[in-house]
Amino acid sequence: MSYLLRSFLFRLDPEKAHSTALGMVRLAWILPPVRKLVKSLYSAPDRPVEAFGLRFRNPVGLAAGYDKDGLGWRALTLLGFGHIEVGTVTLEPQQGNPRPRVFRLIEHRALINRMGFPSRGAFFVSRRLQGRRLEECVIGVNIGKNRQTPLETAESDYCSLFQVFAPLADYIAVNVSSPNTEGLRQLQARQALNGLLKALAGERRLMEETDHLRVPILVKLAPDLNDSELDDALDAMMVNGIDGVIATNTTTRREGLVKPRYAQETGGLSGEPLAQLALEMVRKIQLRTEGRLPVVGAGGITDETGAQSMLDAGAVLIQLYTGLVYEGPGLVRRITTNRI
Ligand SMILES: Cc1cc2nc3c(=O)[nH]c(=O)nc-3n(C[C@H](O)[C@H](O)[C@H](O)COP(=O)(O)O)c2cc1C
Repeated sequence: MSYLLRSFLFRLDPEKAHSTALGMVRLAWILPPVRKLVKSLYSAPDRPVEAFGLRFRNPVGLAAGYDKDGLGWRALTLLGFGHIEVGTVTLEPQQGNPRPRVFRLIEHRALINRMGFPSRGAFFVSRRLQGRRLEECVIGVNIGKNRQTPLETAESDYCSLFQVFAPLADYIAVNVSSPNTEGLRQLQARQALNGLLKALAGERRLMEETDHLRVPILVKLAPDLNDSELDDALDAMMVNGIDGVIATNTTTRREGLVKPRYAQETGGLSGEPLAQLALEMVRKIQLRTEGRLPVVGAGGITDETGAQSMLDAGAVLIQLYTGLVYEGPGLVRRITTNRI
């Protein structure tokens, strides 16, 4: 089943394949008998985990970028995820980079993408999340700045996005690590990150006072930070009371890509070639924070062994994207049934 699905989807351009796959899941959701069938095929056993004050039915989540506009999160719960991260959402709608902007490196079980945050914008996505409360799945929203917003005023994009989504999401993920928006990753530097997180913590405090609502804030980091950059970023998070870190986003490195097809496309590399780098990041974060900052591990998890390694490295939760593309919809069930 998975094999047939994959060979059909891999005939299509990667972005088209993605929208087709999402469309299929959404269709399954609206047709009750199909919904029941898909649920029975892919629902995962309960492996409850608590993190940042939230209860997850299992540690496996869908990484940001798969459901950027919040079109399919309800339907995607059929695939067994314990959490789904919608986004990255930008404040204003924007198109992202010209196509083609996603490439399959099949021999490496990897992708390169330079999407550049195509987003229908905060207003649209917030309507998709209205009335959402779901018992069985945690929903996070990943936020990022518009391409046109200068770095100096990025704070105001993030604060506005926080105001819109904090009442609708179980947690907010602050994306300062996509390689496809020029300059974005500079926001991981000590001073810049400190300023940004201070502003967001201020927004959260206000919301706490007025609405008695305290939404966990996570920060998503790049795997390409060196040790001192990582220390700076972690310090900024801990000083500002950030609840957790997502490690990692895609990498701009290309080491280890022996097959040349698409290897030199610009963008972020995900999938198997990222696995070791992401794992090392998680270990370092655990070591440097002495376990005080819960880590969500992402990067190259394509099977139960990879998932278990990430958890053994200290991650409390894991996320996947590229693994789903290569392994198909049964991956969450497989991981939660065989390991953890
Ligand atoms: C096509 C594509 C689009 C992505 N878009 C986003 C995004 O909008 N925001 C984000 O934080 N990460 C984005 N990511 C990164 C993933 O969330 C994840 O961190 C990364 O791919 C590593 O996990 P993986 O190896 O399981 O794919 C994207 C990844 C891919 C492949």
